[in-house]
Amino acid sequence: MNIDLRTTYMGLDLKHPVVASASPLSGTLDGILRLEDAGAAAVVMLSLFEEQVQQQTDTMLRIMGSGEDGYAESLSYFPDHDDYPLDPDGYLETLHRASERCDIPVIASINGITNQGWIDIAKMMQQAGASGLELNIYYIPTGITLSGRAVEDLYLDVVTAVRDAVSVPLALKLNPYFSSFGDMAKQFDTAGADALVLFNRLYRPNFDLEHLQVVPRISLSSPAEIRLPLLWISLLHHRIKASLAASHGVDSAAEVIKYLLAGADAVMTTSALLRHGAGYVATLVEGLQEWMQSKDYASVRQMQGVMSQQRMSDPDAFERANYIRTLEHYDSDPVPETTPETAVR
Ligand SMILES: Cc1cc2nc3c(=O)[nH]c(=O)nc-3n(C[C@H](O)[C@H](O)[C@H](O)COP(=O)(O)O)c2cc1C
Repeated sequence: MNIDLRTTYMGLDLKHPVVASASPLSGTLDGILRLEDAGAAAVVMLSLFEEQVQQQTDTMLRIMGSGEDGYAESLSYFPDHDDYPLDPDGYLETLHRASERCDIPVIASINGITNQGWIDIAKMMQQAGASGLELNIYYIPTGITLSGRAVEDLYLDVVTAVRDAVSVPLALKLNPYFSSFGDMAKQFDTAGADALVLFNRLYRPNFDLEHLQVVPRISLSSPAEIRLPLLWISLLHHRIKASLAASHGVDSAAEVIKYLLAGADAVMTTSALLRHGAGYVATLVEGLQEWMQSKDYASVRQMQGVMSQQRMSDPDAFERANYIRTLEHYDSDPVPETTPETAVR
C-alpha cells in the first residue's frame, strides 16, 4: 500500500509529521543540515534567548509592575553565555544560511518573557528567511502576588505584538499551567497564533543533597510524559483553527502514533534524538509507516484526530467521569507506554 505521510503544520506543507524541536542539535548550520539529511520534516532552531537580545533585567519588572522574581527564575534556564553557540548576529547568519541550504522548513525560535526584546529580532528572523517563528514564552510566576489574569495578559501581549510585527507563520510553545488551558488556547488562536506547541519543558531544578545546592539541569523526557499533551491535543483537535504540535516524551513510533491519533498536526522530538542521534528520525517515521500499514491507514490525514475527544464514542474517557471509573479499576492491565502494536486498544 502506498502511504501518504504528508501533513500541514502552521500553514507549512511537511512530507511527514516528525519535526526536530529546538535543542542543541539545531543550534548550528551543520546540525540543521544533519537533521535534514536524517529525514526531519522540519527543524526548529535552538532558541535565541531574549536575554541575549536585551540584557536589562529591569524590563520585566517595569512591565509587570512588580518586584517578583520570575525573571530570575527564567535566567536560571538561560544557558551560560560562554557555552551558548549563538549570539543574535550569529543566530541570524545561521538561520539565513540554513534557510538557503535546506529544502525543509527551518523555524526560528525565541525564548523570552517580555515583548520588548522580541519584536525587532522577530522581524529580522523573518528577513533572514525563517519559514516560521516559534515563541517559547518562558515565564515562571514564582512570586505570590501576581494574579493569573496578569500572567495571561503577559502572554497575550507578547503574542499580539509579535503577530503584528511578522507575516510568517507563528507558533507558540506553551506550558500547561493556566487555570483554563482551553480558554487560553482559544485566546491565542484569536490573537493570531498559527500553531500551539504542547508543551514546553519547564525548568524543574533538583537538589544536590551532598552540597545542599540547587542543581539547574534539564533532564531528558520519558514516554510517560506524553499523557498531558496527549489529553490536550485530544481535547483541542478541531476546536481551534491553529495547528497543534506535540512536544514531549517521544521515545518511539508509538508516541508519534498516539499523538497523531489524538489530533496532532506535527510531532516534535528532542530527547529521543539526543539519546539515539539525528538518524533516529528515520526509525520513528518507519515505525509510523509500519503501524499505518498494519492498520490499513492510507494517509496521516486519515488517522489524525481519530482518537480526539470529539471523535471518540466515549468522550467521558477524557473527563472526570472516567476518573471515578479509573479509581475503581486502578490495578487493571496498564496500557504499555511504548509498543506501537498496543498504541490503540
Ligand atoms: C538540552 C535541551 C535543550 C533545549 N533547548 C531548547 C530551546 O532552546 N528552546 C526551546 O524552545 N526548547 C528547548 N528544549 C525543549 C525541547 O525543544 C522539547 O520541547 C522538550 O525537550 C520536550 O520534548 P522531548 O520530550 O522530545 O525532549 C530543550 C531541551 C533539551 C533537552
